[in-house]
Amino acid sequence: MNHARTDFRAFLDTLTVAGLMHGIDEPVDPYLEAGAINRHLLESGLPGPIYSRIKDSIPGMRLAANMFATFPGVAIALGLPADTDVHDIIDCYRERFGRTTEPVVVAEGECQQNVLLGDDADLTGLPAIHGHPGDGGRYLGTFGVSVTKDPDSDWTNWGIYRGMIHGPRALGITLHPQINHGGRIMAAYHREDRPMPYAMFFGGDPLYTILGGPGAPPGVSEVDIAGGMRGRPVELVRCKTVDLTVPADAEIVVEGTVSPGDVLPEGPFAEYPGYLVSDPAPAPVVRVTAVTYRHRAILPTCSMGIPMDMVFPQIQMAANFKRALLQARLPIDKVGVPRAGNGMAVVVSTDTPIAGLPQRIAATIWSDAAGSKLTPYVIVVNTDVDPMDTDAVLHAIVAKCHPARDIHVYPGFYNAPLQPYLPPGPHRALGAGGANVLFDCTWPIDLAPQDIPLRSDFATSYPEDLQRRIKHRVDAWSLTPIDLRGKN
Ligand SMILES: Cc1cc2nc3c(=O)[nH]c(=O)nc-3n(C[C@H](O)[C@H](O)[C@H](O)COP(=O)(O)O)c2cc1C
Repeated sequence: MNHARTDFRAFLDTLTVAGLMHGIDEPVDPYLEAGAINRHLLESGLPGPIYSRIKDSIPGMRLAANMFATFPGVAIALGLPADTDVHDIIDCYRERFGRTTEPVVVAEGECQQNVLLGDDADLTGLPAIHGHPGDGGRYLGTFGVSVTKDPDSDWTNWGIYRGMIHGPRALGITLHPQINHGGRIMAAYHREDRPMPYAMFFGGDPLYTILGGPGAPPGVSEVDIAGGMRGRPVELVRCKTVDLTVPADAEIVVEGTVSPGDVLPEGPFAEYPGYLVSDPAPAPVVRVTAVTYRHRAILPTCSMGIPMDMVFPQIQMAANFKRALLQARLPIDKVGVPRAGNGMAVVVSTDTPIAGLPQRIAATIWSDAAGSKLTPYVIVVNTDVDPMDTDAVLHAIVAKCHPARDIHVYPGFYNAPLQPYLPPGPHRALGAGGANVLFDCTWPIDLAPQDIPLRSDFATSYPEDLQRRIKHRVDAWSLTPIDLRGKN
């Protein structure tokens, strides 16, 4: 059993030592400035920020961004070495996800070192940012995990749903009965005309945030999966004002209730596809009853854009798709959800020439809960292409995917309403008018082995002993590498 500290601070400390995060002590404005710094650091390949002085927030409170932006960072969050190969991270997640260990409730937790009740429970003192000029307001909830409990069973759901500050004690949340489990649970309370108890927590073990992202099947509590994946029960404390429990090691907790019919316009928000596409829309409001936090609490935040500032969803989607493909007994090798595709494209490799295999791969992905909502692009490649290598994938498309024969368009599929190519209006709101597409970049199954063109690269073209000798000679020349992925 691993009893090393795994809270958010320990995670950030490890990232800092690895050169992936760094502290910023200068005052920074939560209005646009922090968001712009977050994006600039990310897009310049610089370490993520831990701000210790966000203007107008409770003294001592801190804000962190870009902590999930790298694959080494996600490896660290999962307890793996930072240099773990991305496909090994995917396989580790795939193998561990699904183990469960029930949590334990403890009497005290760091997350309640400071308790603000009633009128003192003021959200505006938290270091939430207005990150992008087009956003509808200051977003407290970006990496916040919503906690809701089914009124009719033991199911406690964790899910990440964005949350915009409306005022000192009002937080707008994108709870929606058709879209997320939190919304489905809310509908069960509201059918009986009862307010739903609600909590949003931030930080704690980074696994909590990671597990809040993809969700688990209805009835399965993510907290049990967090315990199973970490190999020990999650320690929870009872909330101060609502009948819910939250992780003892969380940084900040917001408690409140969501009453039937209580909605306010929420959004827009610069979202995962990298474009600002949504309009303000009515969303449920959490009326805040308590805010609790650790001393010198650290709020995690995200600043989405191009590229995405988090890569754990790509790991989870690849792991879940791979599990589904293997369960369907399809002969696949690797699965990748490359960063550049923001979850909207998946690449699968296979060398097995079976008629219709690419279609069965695509059908399996589009039957998955996340794939059916988020991933209209399925690209199937041979195993000489690493699905996470976007240059290699693009090359496979242009070299092996016949423009008239191998691109299969399936109109009528649901596409996420945030998909930028959907036209604005009621169709987009419904996710209607979309389509899915399969790029079959495998050699045709009727191509005789002797007719398959030979790759002309170093690793495939030359005998191994010649390769070894050449590498040895070139090493001795001590040359400085140049970046062939430049944008020119
Ligand atoms: C950073 C981040 C932000 C997210 N924001 C939202 C959101 O605002 N609304 C939403 O419905 N899903 C959002 N999601 C996706 C949900 O977390 C995901 O659909 C998950 O399955 C929800 O959990 P549930 O299935 O238990 O409802 C977000 C995910 C991440 C990682």
